Amino acid sequence: MTNTDKRVTRVREVRRRLAQEGPPRTRDHERDFETVTVPERHCDQLRDLMVSEGAEKVVEIGLAYGSSALAIGEALVTVDPPFPRHLIIDPFQEREYSNAGRDLLRSAGLDPIVTLMPTPSSTALPQLVSEGFVADAAFVDGSHRFYEVFVDLYFLRKVVRPGGLIVVDDGWWPSVHTAVRYYERNTGWKVIPDAFPGEPIGVGPPGGQGARCKAYRLPDPSFEPSFKDFRAF
Ligand SMILES: C[S@@+](CC[C@H](N)C(=O)[O-])C[C@H]1O[C@@H](n2cnc3c(N)ncnc32)[C@H](O)[C@@H]1O
Repeated sequence: MTNTDKRVTRVREVRRRLAQEGPPRTRDHERDFETVTVPERHCDQLRDLMVSEGAEKVVEIGLAYGSSALAIGEALVTVDPPFPRHLIIDPFQEREYSNAGRDLLRSAGLDPIVTLMPTPSSTALPQLVSEGFVADAAFVDGSHRFYEVFVDLYFLRKVVRPGGLIVVDDGWWPSVHTAVRYYERNTGWKVIPDAFPGEPIGVGPPGGQGARCKAYRLPDPSFEPSFKDFRAF
């Protein structure tokens, strides 16, 4: 077994245990893990997407119980690029989740590539822009308020390289869907069809319809739309 194989196996083992047994601790909310975390099948699809991108640098918003972070970590370890980095933004990991996600990433051996930014994405992302950080891909599963998702995507346009990937979870909520729709209609983001095949799973809005996770390809070259071309969304 190569060193890469061993690292992948270690991440997979933590992922498998988390999916089967749940996290070591949860908040005192009914079915909190099932409600909050990205289900295993969608995590596998996210991992496959990141692997097929050959991702080296990924920004993630929203750690919680770490299911999606572990899947992205598995992708980075599988791709095994020269300088892998996984920046994860979450201001509530310690206070709300007692560091459950962070500890799982550690036990999966992902510490060397993970940086946790414990501030709201609306302040962490501009910091990344001012530092000149460039990502190949981003996964968005933080605040689900319309204006916070909109701001996340505003900054991620500047952080993710032209032609890169932005994956958004929970697009079945109107607040999230509406925010993304602006970028689809006005900034040339293209849905990647069949990135998340099959019926969406997980806990969504009552009677909600539509895809849960959606992946978008950013235009290359990137462009700034004229306000005169604004398309309502
Ligand atoms: C739905 S959970 C993420 C679930 C996670 N992807 C998983 O698979 O377990 C949403 C997360 O976003 C975080 N969050 C809420 N507001 C945020 C903000 N303004 N910036 C960054 N993260 C935020 C919460 O602390 C929570 O961990």
